[in-house]
Amino acid sequence: MQTIVRLADYRPSDYLIDRVDLDVRLHPTETRVTATLALRPNPDGEPGAPLVLDGDELTLLAIALDGQPTGPGAIAVTPRSLTLHQPPQRPFVLAIETQVNPSANTKLMGLYRSNGVYCTQCEADGFRRITYFLDRPDVLAVYTTRIEGERADTPVLLGNGNPVAQGEIGLTRHYAIWHDPHPKPAYLFALVGGRLGRVGSRFTTMEGREVEIAVYVEPGKEGRAGFALDAVARSMAWDERTFGRAYDLDVFNVVAVSDFNMGAMENKGLNIFNDKYVLASPDTATDSDYANIEAIIAHEYFHNWSGNRVTCRDWFQLCLKEGLTVFRDQEFSSDERSRPVHRIADVRTLRARQFPEDAGPLAHPVRPRAYREINNFYTATVYEKGAEIVRMLRTLLGPDTFRRGMDRYFATCDGTAATVEDFLAAFAHESGRDLTAFAQWYEQAGTPTVAVSGTYDPAARTYALAFRQSLPVVATEAAAGAVDRPQLIQPQLIQPLVIPVALGLVAREGGPVEAVSERVHDGVFVLETAEDTLVFEDVAAPPVPSLFRGFSAPVKVEHALTRDERLTLLAHDGDAFNRWQAAQSLAMDVLVGRAKAGAPRDAEAGPEGAALSAALATFLDGEALADPAFAALVLTLPEEQEVAQTLQAEVDPDAIWRARQSLRVQLGRDLGPRLRALRAALAEPAGTPFSPDAASAGRRALRNAALDLVTAADPDAGTALALAQLDAATTMTDRLAALASVSLVPGEAREGALARFGETYRHEPLVLDKWFAVQAMIPEDGTPDRIRGLMRHPAFSLGNPNRVRSLIASFSLNNPTQFHRPDGAGYDLTVEVVLALDGKNPQVAARLLTSFNTWRMVEGGRRRRAEAALRRVAEAPGLSPDVSDIAGRSLA
Ligand code: ARG
Ligand code: ZN
Repeated sequence: MQTIVRLADYRPSDYLIDRVDLDVRLHPTETRVTATLALRPNPDGEPGAPLVLDGDELTLLAIALDGQPTGPGAIAVTPRSLTLHQPPQRPFVLAIETQVNPSANTKLMGLYRSNGVYCTQCEADGFRRITYFLDRPDVLAVYTTRIEGERADTPVLLGNGNPVAQGEIGLTRHYAIWHDPHPKPAYLFALVGGRLGRVGSRFTTMEGREVEIAVYVEPGKEGRAGFALDAVARSMAWDERTFGRAYDLDVFNVVAVSDFNMGAMENKGLNIFNDKYVLASPDTATDSDYANIEAIIAHEYFHNWSGNRVTCRDWFQLCLKEGLTVFRDQEFSSDERSRPVHRIADVRTLRARQFPEDAGPLAHPVRPRAYREINNFYTATVYEKGAEIVRMLRTLLGPDTFRRGMDRYFATCDGTAATVEDFLAAFAHESGRDLTAFAQWYEQAGTPTVAVSGTYDPAARTYALAFRQSLPVVATEAAAGAVDRPQLIQPQLIQPLVIPVALGLVAREGGPVEAVSERVHDGVFVLETAEDTLVFEDVAAPPVPSLFRGFSAPVKVEHALTRDERLTLLAHDGDAFNRWQAAQSLAMDVLVGRAKAGAPRDAEAGPEGAALSAALATFLDGEALADPAFAALVLTLPEEQEVAQTLQAEVDPDAIWRARQSLRVQLGRDLGPRLRALRAALAEPAGTPFSPDAASAGRRALRNAALDLVTAADPDAGTALALAQLDAATTMTDRLAALASVSLVPGEAREGALARFGETYRHEPLVLDKWFAVQAMIPEDGTPDRIRGLMRHPAFSLGNPNRVRSLIASFSLNNPTQFHRPDGAGYDLTVEVVLALDGKNPQVAARLLTSFNTWRMVEGGRRRRAEAALRRVAEAPGLSPDVSDIAGRSLA
C-alpha cells in the first residue's frame, strides 16, 4: 500500500540543485542519459542529511561524485531511489548515467515514443523515470540539454529554452543543444525527437523580443496546424493586453503527439500536446474541437507565467497554477468569443463534472490535505472549482484591484515555488482586506447550498432576501479520502464561506427595478455568515430576484421561484446567464417531476412541458436569429447526469432518460414548424467559405439543436433530414451532429450511416474517435456488445488514451442508462477495461474508474452491483497505486 503524503508534513528539501546538464542519447530501447547535477546543501534543510534522489524503473550505469567514482558503501541504489549517505556539506557535482527504454514505456510518463516520435511527460513525477533526481516542484534548476539521435529517425530535436548549438556526429547521427535560462522544477522539463512537419511564424512581444513560434505535427498534417499556430499568437497578445505578461524566450514550440495521457503540458518553451487539441480542419474537426484547441493552446501558454515563472511549492498547491490558469483561459475564450455563451458552457462543465465529484466519495478540497497518488488529483475540483475561486476573488475585489493583486503576485513570487497563501497575500495587500475567511474555499470539500427566500412588504415598500448557506454533511463525510480519512472535516468545524452574490431585481412586467441597498456594491452582495438578510428599500411592487448572475459562486441555489417568475426572468433578465438559467430551471422542474413519477407514457403531453414550449416559442421568435449560439444553449435540456444530481438519491437512470426523452418529444412537436423554419433560415448558402468563428459556430449549433428536437418528435422525418445533412455537410460539425441524431433511431438507416462514416474516415484516428463515441453513447441494450465489437476494430487500441476515452469513457461517463444497467453489464464492461488497462497505463485506467463516483446515488439493485464491481477491482492482484487509490476511496 502506497504511503500517504500530507500537506502538514511538508519540509524543504535538504539539498538544492542549481544546474542540470543533461546528455540524452536517443535509442528506441536503450536510451542513455547522463545527468550532471550541481548540488548544494539547502540552508533551510537538515545539515548532514543523506541525499535521497527519486527514481522510477531506472537502470543505473555509472555515478561519479566531483569527478571521482563513489567509494564502496557510499551509495545505495534501487530502481526507485538513489541515496548518497554522506553528501559533502558544500557545493558538489554528481554525474549519473542511467538507461531507459522509451519503446516499452506504455505509462506515457517520462520518456516514451508515440508513433515513433520520442517525447516526454514529466508532470507530476515523470522526470524520475529519466534520471535520478530531487523530483519535487520546489527544487528549481537551470537546464542545459544535449539531445543526440539518428538523423533519419529524429531530424527534429527540441528541448526547453533556446537552441544554442547543433552538429553532426559521424555519418548518421546528429545533436542539438538547448539552454533554458529560467530556473524550473523537473516537472517542466521536456524533449522531443522525431520526424515532424513544422508550421511557424513570428511574434514581437511588447518588450520588443522577436519570438519564433512553431507548431510541429505528423508530416503531412501541416495543413491542420494553422489554427493552433494562430491561437498561440492570439494568446501571447492577450496575456500582454490583459495581464501585462510578455513571453520570455526566443522560441516557443508546440508539438502534437498522438499518445498522451491528458490534454497538454506546459513544459518551458516546449508545450507538448495531445494532437486532438492541435489538429484542425473543417473536414475533421468540429466547432467544439476548434474552441477546445484555442482554449488549451491558451491554457498551456498562460502557464508560462502562472505555473512556470511562478510554480508550486508542493503538489498540494496544484490549484495555484491550474485553477488560476483555467480562469485565465476562460477569460481569453470569453474575450475572443461570446462572453455569456462561454460562461454558460463553462458552468455546464462544472455542473456535469465537478458537482458530482464534490458530492461523491472522491470529493476533496480544492487544496487537498493528503494524497496517495498525485496524478489522481488532476481533477475537475482542482481545475474548475479552482478557477471559480479566482473568479470569485475578482468579483469581490473588482477588476482593478484584482489586476493589481495579480501584478503583485507575479512580481513578488517570480522565480519561486509558491503557495496558495502567497497568492492570497498579494490580494490582501492590494485590497487591504483580510482574506482569511475567503481562504476556506480552498479547504472545504462539497458544493455549498444557498437557500434564498424573498419577502415583499407593501406597507414599508421593502423587499427582503433571506440567505442561508450550508455545506452538505454527506460531502464532508465522503471527503474522507484516504484510509485514515485525512480529508475529513468534522461537520461542527464547517466555517461559513464568503460567497459573492451578484444580483438584481427584475420587474414582473419586465425591466430592471432600481432598488437601493447599501450592502450591494457594483451589483454584488457578499454573504459571509451562515444566515443573512438583505433588504432593499423603496421597492414599488413585488419584484423577481435574479440571483447569482453570471454564476457568481459555485453553489447550488435553493430558491422557490414560481413558474411565472422564471418565465419573467427568461424573457426579461438583463443577465444573459440567468435567462439561460431560468430556461434550464423550468426544464429541470419538468424533468425532475417526470422522473419522480417514473415518466409514464402520457408524460409527453404534460402541462408544465407545454408551458415551457410556449415560452421557448416566444423566445425563438423574438431572438433566435439575433444570437443563435445563445438560443442553442437555451434549447438544450439539462443532461441526464444533472437531473440525477438534483434527485440526489435512489436514482433510476432509466426514469431520467424517459423523462428527458418525453420532454424532447414534446418540445420537438410543439416547436416543430419553428425549428424547421429556423433550420432553413440558418442554412449556409452554397459556397460560403468555412469559418470557425463563434458566430458561424453558433449558427451551426442552433441548426443542429433544432435537428435534435425534430428527430426526437418525428424519428422518420428527422432521420431523413439528418441523412441529407450527412451527405451535403461541408463541416465535421454538421456531419457529426447528423450522425448523432441518426444514431438515436434504431434501424437500417442508422447502421448504414455508421458503416459509411467509419469507412470514409478509416485513416483518420481523431475522426474515428468521434465515431466510437457516438456509438458508445447509444442508450440501448445492445451497446455493450457493440462496444466489445468495436474494441476489435483495427483502429482501436488500449494503448492509446484517446481511443480509450472515446470508446470506453464516453460510455461510462456519458451513457448513464447503459453504464448503470440493472443487470450490471455496464459496470462489468468498465471494470474489465480498467483491469486490462491497468498494467499498461495506470493513469488512464484510474481516470476511467472514476466513472463510478456516482455509485452511491443510484437505486439499491444497481448500487449493489456497482459496489460489487468496485470490490472486484479493489481485490484484483497487482493493482497500480493509481487504480487502487481510486477504488479504495470510492468504497470508503
Ligand atoms: N499541467 C497540465 C495542464 O496544463 C496537466 C498535466 C497533468 N499530467 C499528469 N500526468 N498528471 O493541465
Ligand atoms: Zn494546466
